[in-house]
Parts: sequence; structure tokens; C-alpha cells
Amino acid sequence: MRRRAFLELTAGAGLVAAAGLAFAPSIIGRAIAAPTGGQPLPLPPVLDLDQGAGATLETRAGSHAFYEGASAATTLGYGQNYLGPILRARRGGTARVSLANRLDAPVATHWHGLHIPGSMDGGPQMAVAPGAGLTRELEIDQPAGTYWYHSHTHGLTAEQVYQGLAGFFLIEDPEAPDPGLPDELGVDDLPLAVQDRNFSPEGHLRYSSGGMMMMNGMKGDAILVNGALRPVASVPGGLVRLRLLNGSNARIYHFFFEDGRGFHQVASDGGLLQAPVAMERLTLAPGERAEIVVDFSTGGTRLLSADDNNAMMGMMGGMMSRIMGGGSSPDNIRGADGFEIMSFEVDPARRAARTSLPATLPGAPNGEMAEPVARRRISLEMMHGMRGGGGMMGGMMGGRGGDSPGPFSINGKPYDMGRIDVAAKLGTTELWEVVTDGMAHPFHVHGTSFKVLNVDGRAMDFATTGLKDVVLVRERAEILVPFNRPADRQTPFMFHCHILEHEDNGMMGQMTVS
Ligand code: C2O
Ligand code: CU
Ligand code: CU
Repeated sequence: MRRRAFLELTAGAGLVAAAGLAFAPSIIGRAIAAPTGGQPLPLPPVLDLDQGAGATLETRAGSHAFYEGASAATTLGYGQNYLGPILRARRGGTARVSLANRLDAPVATHWHGLHIPGSMDGGPQMAVAPGAGLTRELEIDQPAGTYWYHSHTHGLTAEQVYQGLAGFFLIEDPEAPDPGLPDELGVDDLPLAVQDRNFSPEGHLRYSSGGMMMMNGMKGDAILVNGALRPVASVPGGLVRLRLLNGSNARIYHFFFEDGRGFHQVASDGGLLQAPVAMERLTLAPGERAEIVVDFSTGGTRLLSADDNNAMMGMMGGMMSRIMGGGSSPDNIRGADGFEIMSFEVDPARRAARTSLPATLPGAPNGEMAEPVARRRISLEMMHGMRGGGGMMGGMMGGRGGDSPGPFSINGKPYDMGRIDVAAKLGTTELWEVVTDGMAHPFHVHGTSFKVLNVDGRAMDFATTGLKDVVLVRERAEILVPFNRPADRQTPFMFHCHILEHEDNGMMGQMTVS
């Protein structure tokens, strides 16, 4: 049986200061058995929102044993124990969804990637109180694609998503030409929500948001796909579409297949690419989606990921976070090559519906946007608390929570629900320059999809990037952001880092569009 060394952070014990930073490496030597994965890939139930009365989503507590031998963990879910159903809506239709909150904490539910008004968007202003409900009619008018929904509760987003408040939101376009891709949901079209988690030896979800966990974001050492530990998918021996969602709080994945097989990306955050793009490796930051098509005619394989080294202050942060568990690597690392996400087995009884990939993808968005009317600089900062006097130490040791914004800020200001940071004009486009400080941040804007012009000095080609709503910025990026949905002061759009610990701790701003 494989065993691994196990480090645990105990807050407040054995404070050590190094290089001006405080951290608490209380190392408890314990060895636990690495839990084994290999259950069949779960597919959440599919709910069509534009039929009849739509769907009711109940946010509730659940209990779930995540792997063989685990005792039932306390979880959160939308109408189920962990995660939520796959919601499906059609362009041109109205998606009806009611939210009922059965938790004793407020829950705001945001429709990530949807082009809907601020009043429908589900930002922190629209939290549903315990025991209360809310009905939404979302008018869907945007490209078909893989979107998602998740908790966006003020100060609680990271923890509620970690416990399970997230799900897929798929948009179809009945008017668009058939792109000729695998599209039988659950058979050759598989939505895959990839999340990393930490488990206690009993199998309970463990979340810790203090110290380096907050600075680098919470990274777990166990990989779940649709809530199952490193599952196995049974697929037909032909082309299969994988709708990959990075639903993790902070981990960046660099996906590749164990046998080195190439694959094609066919869609990004905001819908199809104009033509399939051949690749061998795909990076996906928190909040990002990519649809890829993989050929299984030569048999199954494993999906792996290379390690995520994104940490504050480069090597120093990386090293410290490793000591403290903040940058812990998944426990199933094989050599230096990567760790397992899940595996695929070919079922010879299943006939593949698609055996060849189309050369182009008709119906893909063309990325045409108006000339920008304004240029704006958005600076994502980790050191705000240092200048503020409390020091980064104060921020690190204090952890996140409620109304005290953490040490993070945008343009010098930590998130404030009562302040509007950007007032954009409805129907216009702006050029945003996003710059970072300390580490790479996945930058996200609500209520729109944008075009990435360049990232870290490299010009980006729309043909290979497509429409985006999250972009991973190591140093600097320029994006063209169109504003086509209104948002007032009461229900503004958010823009923020999608490392959820950064968002909860102040790296978020608010925007009106009118
Ligand atoms: Cu996916 Cu404001 O978030
Ligand atoms: Cu969003
Ligand atoms: Cu960040």
C-alpha cells in the first residue's frame, strides 16, 4: 500500500518568522493510506431550464463518502449532496430557475459567463437569506458553449464552492449550423468539473484559509472529477468531446494525456473556436473552460496534469507554501511527469458516432468588436495590507472572513460592496490593461465575454483563443471588453481574480453599465 508523509498546519502553534513573513509550520508526522480512485465517472442529472416551469435549485447541506473507505463528509450541493445538476438552456429562450436556500448561511448564486443584466447576475448583492427563495428568468442570447454556476456569497465564496456549490450551465443554439462535433451528453460528450480537495484521514473535506493558504489560494492534494476521486470514464472507440471546467479554488492545471496523444481544442470560455486547434497540452486556470476532442480509436489512456507552481513571490513562496501545505501536490504523483486527473476506458460495445473532426466549426463567434472608447488599467495587488500598516503578516494570520477585506486589492482598493469602481457605457467596448503583482491571477469579468489581445508580451490570435471570460495573467494582458448588458448601482457586475481566496479577500471590483 502506498503511504505518504503528511503535513498539517496548526494555526497559532510554533510561529516562525523568515524573510519578514510569518508562518506556522507545525509538522505532525503521520502517515495515511492514499485513498484510491477509480469509480465510474458520475454525470450529474441534466435539467432543461426552458421547458415548463424550469428548475428549482435547493442549496442544502449533504453528506457524501468521496471514496472507498471514506466516512461520509459534510458537503453542500444544489439539490444533491455535492455539486449541482447540469443546467441546459437554449439561445433565444428563457431559462427559468428558482433558488431556495435551505442552509443557515446566505447564498448568492452567480451564472458565470452568461450575458445577462446585473440584476440577474447573482453577485454578492443578490444573496438569498436562509429559508428564503428567489426566481430568475434568464434571457439567453449568446453563443452555445460550456458555462457554469457557483456560489458568489460575500466573504464565503471560496468555502461554499469548496464544499460543493457549483455546477455546469450549458447553452445550445438551435439556430446555429451543426459544427459536426460529438454531442451526445454522457456518451461522447462529457462535462468534467475538475477540483482539488484535501481530505482528513476519515475522508472529510478539509478547508483551511489562513496563512499561505489564503495567499496562494487553497490547493488540495486529491483530485475530484464531477465529485469522484480520479474516476474512470467508459467511452466509445472514436471521437469524444470533453468539456473541461477548472472548478478548483486556486489550482492551475496543465492537462496532457499519459501516452502523449494529441487532441484538438474546439471551444473556449465563450463558445466554439473557428476551427479545431491541435495541441498536446492545455493550461486551464480557475474558472476557465475548454472543450477538447480526443480520439479513442486507438484505446483508452489517462488524463494527467503537470504541477502548479503558481505561488506568491516565485520560488520563495513556492517553497514556503510546500512546507506549509499551501502548494501541496496531489498525492498520486508518478515521477516528475504529472499526476492523474482521471482515466478513460474504451467500451467496445459502444459505437462511435463521430470518427473524423470537421476542418472548420461553422457557427463559431467571429470576435468582431467595436473600437474601444476608453482605456483602463486594472492592477491586481497582493500587498495592499503591507502598506496599510497591519502588514501582510496581519493579513496572513488573520485569515479571511466576513466584512474584513483581506490584504488584496485592485488599483489600491480592497473590495467594497458600497463602492462602484468602474462606470462603463452600455453598447461600448473598452480596452483593459490588466497588470499583476507577485503571482499569476486568473482575471474574470461578469456579464460579458472578451477578446484577449496579448498576454505577457505575446500577441494572442482570436482563432486559437476564442471568446473568453477568464484570462490567466502572469504579468500583463490587454483585453477588449464589450458592454452589452446593463447593470445598475444596486446590482453591479463584478470583476475579480478567480482564485477564490483572493476574491474573498479583496481582489474584486464593481462595475455599472448604463
Ligand atoms: Cu465565476 Cu465572479 O465568478
Ligand atoms: Cu462570473
Ligand atoms: Cu489572484
